[in-house]
Amino acid sequence: MKENKGLRLLLIPLPLQGHINPMLQLAQILHSNGFSITIIHTSFNSLNPSNYPHFNFYCIQDGMSQNEYSSSLLNFVIELNTRCVDPFKECLGKLMCDVSKEPIACLISDVMCYFTQDVATNFQLPRIVLRTGGVCSFVAFAAFPFLIEKGYLPIQESKLEEEVTELPPLRVKDLPMINTKEPEKYYELICNFVNKTKASLGVIWNTFEDLESSSLSTLSQQFSIPMFPIGPFHKHFPINNASSSSSLISQDQNCISWLNNHKPKSVVYVSFGSVASITAKEFLEIAWGLVNSNYPFLWVVRPGLILGHEWIELLPNGFIENLEGRGYIVKWAPQLEILAHQAIGSFWTHNGWNSTLESICEGVPMICMPCFTDQLVNARYVSHVWRIGLQLENGMERGKIERTIRKLMEDNIEGNEIRDRALKFKEEAKVCLEQGGSSCSSFEKLVAHILSLKTFTFEAS
Ligand code: UDX
Repeated sequence: MKENKGLRLLLIPLPLQGHINPMLQLAQILHSNGFSITIIHTSFNSLNPSNYPHFNFYCIQDGMSQNEYSSSLLNFVIELNTRCVDPFKECLGKLMCDVSKEPIACLISDVMCYFTQDVATNFQLPRIVLRTGGVCSFVAFAAFPFLIEKGYLPIQESKLEEEVTELPPLRVKDLPMINTKEPEKYYELICNFVNKTKASLGVIWNTFEDLESSSLSTLSQQFSIPMFPIGPFHKHFPINNASSSSSLISQDQNCISWLNNHKPKSVVYVSFGSVASITAKEFLEIAWGLVNSNYPFLWVVRPGLILGHEWIELLPNGFIENLEGRGYIVKWAPQLEILAHQAIGSFWTHNGWNSTLESICEGVPMICMPCFTDQLVNARYVSHVWRIGLQLENGMERGKIERTIRKLMEDNIEGNEIRDRALKFKEEAKVCLEQGGSSCSSFEKLVAHILSLKTFTFEAS
């Protein structure tokens, strides 16, 4: 714990699991470096202050409902950015007048909470953003106006396999789109968060130089603000401090005892994160692909994962019993502990950025099954740039699933090369946080930048 800096930072996460985790980890990192922390959170997916007694919390009433979230992620994010404006203004008004606490150095906002930029400017409050996703996908988001102008977007079914020559190695089908009948709405959302990122005073990234140097330099040429790749966040401290407290669903710890009974690198871990969903047909293909591979598997089936179904009631009678302990299904798992467990041999993931980075940090090779937005770009980078995984493409089919698992788990040239490269990245992810490492140096620059904001003056607008 560094000496108290006498300054307060206001942090505001987007209220979704994949955004809350890295924001709370960032808060911990900054706190242990001497900053006081106030988390501004929404009433939707409201956080539990008792998990973080050393932070202050301020809840703003957004009026969003679980129904609105479930019916359209796109509309949810847009609506949240509209409804939070007034309560956020009121919140800043109160916090900035509070002389009982340390002076506020700046706001650190999730990129997707783009409404915070104009409000912060009105309050003359410096704003830095946290991008919880990778740089590789942000480069594609920033290119949306160009992609539309060139006719890559909206995506035409007949062109899915074509290369986007300006963004190698992406193909049209790897562009970070979402399934929507209102693509213009989606483009507007992307433009908003990219433009409000450009208007900020810097971007913090949960990534590291050795992994994304080329994307970082591409973006630095387009954005005239400082970039701080200081990740992997969760590796700044021991695993137990990084994971469970920001989980919105309780994590089933029993699977760790189950894993303890398995040989090193023998288990396939399967999880598709907190938002993605699959059809009933896909669910059954996955189940049989896993069974037929003959490898033990630990599978997170989140309630709500399977469209139109509660949980795993679709599985044939006796399915679990017939596995005789070879398969273990949970509703939500302690993912960081699992990926770090010696029994894990591969991770079948949707490639949300957190899952991707967490897997990289443990040297676990991936089976990629992206669903939407940044996951599509992440999966392409995992399989074709970093080459630490295999992508399952063109539909779920049990035979293909079985072959892919075997290729990644068995002793064969391609599988061995993938595993070797994954171990190399694991080492790089460790070294970057050591004294003199790239993320460590970048963090020192971030602290200096925050301290320099005291003298920042806003241009008259
Ligand atoms: C969302 C988007 O889907 C993703 O594309 C974007 O990059 C971030 O926001 P999500 O789908 O939840 O995220 O995936 P991911 O980014 O992988 O984050 C999931 C988090 O939940 C990870 O930190 C993971 O460790 C944690 N998790 C996941 C658990 O703690 N237990 C589980 O069982 C599964």
